[in-house]
Amino acid sequence: MYHISEISPVREKIKKWKQAGYRIAFVPTMGNLHAGHLALVERAKELADKVVVSIFVNPIQFDKKVDLQAYPRTLVDDKAKLLSVECDLVFTPSVKVLYPSGSDITRVEVSGISELLEGESRPGHFSGVATVVTKLFNIVSPDVSIFGEKDFQQLMLVRKMVKDLDMDIDIIGLPTVRDPDGLAMSSRNSYLTAEERKIAPQFYKEMKFLAESLKKGATNFQSLQLSLMSKLEKIGFKPDYIEIRKANDLTVASEEDVEIVILGSAWLGKARLIDNIVMTV
Ligand code: PAF
Repeated sequence: MYHISEISPVREKIKKWKQAGYRIAFVPTMGNLHAGHLALVERAKELADKVVVSIFVNPIQFDKKVDLQAYPRTLVDDKAKLLSVECDLVFTPSVKVLYPSGSDITRVEVSGISELLEGESRPGHFSGVATVVTKLFNIVSPDVSIFGEKDFQQLMLVRKMVKDLDMDIDIIGLPTVRDPDGLAMSSRNSYLTAEERKIAPQFYKEMKFLAESLKKGATNFQSLQLSLMSKLEKIGFKPDYIEIRKANDLTVASEEDVEIVILGSAWLGKARLIDNIVMTV
């Protein structure tokens, strides 16, 4: 596995691979890799000849400095994991390499979707994601890129960006990888104390109960959302939002909609959990 931290040598390597007729798959990450990331790499291997993974804790997508500073950086472990799944190239740029002009940055803004839900809770977050993903796409020039469905809104945002900006890249979403008790794998789960970790699976469990009631024909989405929020609060979460939205554009769903998604976010101690359930009713 090649380990490169500068832009030009990555471009050179990829140019050579493309000249040799190889198809390139790309998995962008912020490191602290878990089985969910490795599943993305495994899927990437099925879709292309060479797999590139980036590890970059992107400062401009963090709305809080403390969150950026606390974000786990585990490069030695991450590299060992990537070796074990036969990744071909890991790109680990520094902040200076990706943002040489400091905060004077040309930004990519994906309209509409960036302001909803996660975007409302974390101002500037999606502009930071869209900007870094665009930069990484320009450096790696992949044929295909793989994202986890756990970050459902991020996946939609990347798909919209690629379509709106005519980027010739296939975007593939991969189902959320969960621990055996149902908790969605996330780098931020490491913030949970042992006690919180025991409670954490209740988040998805309760979302599944809501999905069941919707399947059985429950209406009045507003009150269903509110009652789940208060249930979560009683269990020990600080819910940010529970929303039933249209699956195609994340606008507010009504009882007539068939393709819907339940999206939720809640704090548990220092960890902010997010999850979603896409469903047809
Ligand atoms: O999902 C993530 O880990 C990040 O948002 C991404 C896509 C790597 C951009 O920094």
